[in-house]
Amino acid sequence: MEQAISRDQWSSRLTFVLAAAGSAVGLGNIWKFPYITGMNGGGVFVLIYLGAILFVSMPILAAEVLIGRAGQASPVGAIRRLSRPGSPWIGVGLLGVVGGLIILSYYSVVAGWCLDYIALALTGKLSTTPVDGIPSLFDELYVSESRNLLWHFVFMAMTIGIVVGGVRGGVERASRILMPALFVMMLVLFAYATTLPGFGEAARFVFSPSVDNLTSGGILEALGHSFFSLSVGMGAMLTYGSYLSRRDCLIQSTVSIGVLDTVVSLLACLILFPITFSFGMQPSGGPGLVFKNIPVAFAQLPWGGLWAFVFFALLFVAALTSAISLLETVTAHAIDEWKLSRKTATLGTGLLVLVLGIPSALSGGAGFFGKGMSEATGRSFFDWFDHIASNWLLPMGGLGIATFVAWRLSEELRHEAFTTGSGLKRTASIYRGWLILVRYVAPVGIVAIFLHAVGVI
Ligand code: TRP
Repeated sequence: MEQAISRDQWSSRLTFVLAAAGSAVGLGNIWKFPYITGMNGGGVFVLIYLGAILFVSMPILAAEVLIGRAGQASPVGAIRRLSRPGSPWIGVGLLGVVGGLIILSYYSVVAGWCLDYIALALTGKLSTTPVDGIPSLFDELYVSESRNLLWHFVFMAMTIGIVVGGVRGGVERASRILMPALFVMMLVLFAYATTLPGFGEAARFVFSPSVDNLTSGGILEALGHSFFSLSVGMGAMLTYGSYLSRRDCLIQSTVSIGVLDTVVSLLACLILFPITFSFGMQPSGGPGLVFKNIPVAFAQLPWGGLWAFVFFALLFVAALTSAISLLETVTAHAIDEWKLSRKTATLGTGLLVLVLGIPSALSGGAGFFGKGMSEATGRSFFDWFDHIASNWLLPMGGLGIATFVAWRLSEELRHEAFTTGSGLKRTASIYRGWLILVRYVAPVGIVAIFLHAVGVI
């Protein structure tokens, strides 16, 4: 009987790509990628990152969407249907659901910073503070427990509000308008950045590889971030893939998502670093980079307060469409596995994330989760969650997905699921190339980087 209830579907391939790109493009591209690039010395890190996207994360993205579309369910259910009940592979799906809870819990705190900045812009604080004082606005926010908690709650309430609306009403409608707006804004800012004196230096920083600053931690971080940025490794794209029709081309969708996501990340660097260099700031400024440097640049422009408002509003939007996909994955699990109504499932999982995010919201403060943990363990609670989720859970999940699709699925099913809906002439050779990547290149690469990170090789 349950089988007869048909699953929600995207209204077209374009909306799938937009929603999936909405999931991929987020704080990871605009907040995190520039600052970890800055901390890892630029060029080489970017090169390794691009390699990781092309040879590891994008092929696994295709594998995830494939499982979702073929299994027609959220992570656990889809894998169960493609193997057998009680199969240990279901663990890969479960790992994803847990990963989603963890990621969203601290992601929401950073998204909350955007909301705080929108408030700062609207109240005129960003335009009236003298330029030297702007960076310390972030430091004040960072340590404020009450502001972090407030905005974390507000952001989660919005995310829950959209996911309750379901695939078409909620997720789709939000992405269709918001993604193109973000893209246009990025292009405008990029045009501005090219006029700055620091543009040349910034381009060299991002594109010319020098191996000096590379560490094994940096390689692991590049790999982990390639998963994080594409939303791969925890079943979010798998869940979105389960709403994808069999008439749509999986290859084209995957490539569009990967290219869009990478272009936005590189654009973000080419906006932020020219500003950084032109105004005499450091590229290695850490998590505050976008929040300190962008407002400093805007403060020098006419209508600076308005620019800042638009920028942080769009960053917030990018974060929202990503957060939706994280909550949707956990919610879809609750709906599919426990037969809850969408409303109950969304409220339940949303509240869980809200509570789980409290320690992260308190991580800048002087209490146990912030200063206490940093002094005792070298990382605040927030930093631990981010480190564990992006550098370990996502690559592990990705490894599970790649091995499942490449070694466990039957050739017949895999080939059919990969190629169905594709009108491309070279489908057969693309399939063979992709299979080599998910079979050998991606798993060997992930394992090698893990071993390297723990010091075995
Ligand atoms: N990709 C998003 C970003 O770059 C974050 C994100 C959304 C995500 N869904 C995900 C990360 C699923 C990992 C897994 O900001």
